Amino acid sequence: MDVMEAIRTRRSIRKFQDRPVAEEKLRAVLEAARLAPSWANLQCWRFVVVKNPETRSAIGDLSYVESFFAPKGYKTNPARSALSEAPVVIVACADPEKSGDLGEQYYYMTDMGIAAENLMLSAHAQGLGTVFVGVFDEEKVRDLLGVPANIRIVGLFPLGYPEGEKKEGPPRKPLEEIVFEEKWK
Ligand SMILES: Cc1cc2nc3c(=O)[nH]c(=O)nc-3n(C[C@H](O)[C@H](O)[C@H](O)COP(=O)(O)O)c2cc1C
Repeated sequence: MDVMEAIRTRRSIRKFQDRPVAEEKLRAVLEAARLAPSWANLQCWRFVVVKNPETRSAIGDLSYVESFFAPKGYKTNPARSALSEAPVVIVACADPEKSGDLGEQYYYMTDMGIAAENLMLSAHAQGLGTVFVGVFDEEKVRDLLGVPANIRIVGLFPLGYPEGEKKEGPPRKPLEEIVFEEKWK
């Protein structure tokens, strides 16, 4: 699969088969994240790989943040069951001190975002699926996994074999709407 095809056909996967992920596939996904570019090549990311079913289920429970979802009419995080169903959850963490900032721009989020896309594309290219889960109770996940106070937890990535028919993704804005020529218009 070439890069453009992987980018075009990747989808957020929230349903998984009850089937383990081979260690070499998991390593390849982590390797793709490892090779991402980062601020001054500081590589601020750290990953906690969770396979224990009780821990995954507890992480799923912590993905419902009432103050975020309730006003939107959501009773749960759409990815909640994915976190307990998938055989692996990759918890993506970042050390802000090992990245840069300029004004109010914190580049640890950028670094992690790039690594996350590498991770998701590698999963997809290997026939696996994942979804970036960005809404969760960070402090409780921190306590559960023993993540130090100076480290931010940026995303949770349930990883496994997709279950069910592949769906069309939500539409993207056309280039005409998001690209300006020469100056912002
Ligand atoms: C930073 C970020 C946070 C996200 N958080 C969640 C989440 O908490 N729960 C969820 O179900 N999907 C989450 N998503 C997935 C998006 O909803 C999804 O990527 C988007 O709707 C586009 O669909 P696609 O990934 O299938 O193309 C998140 C995506 C990103 C990039």
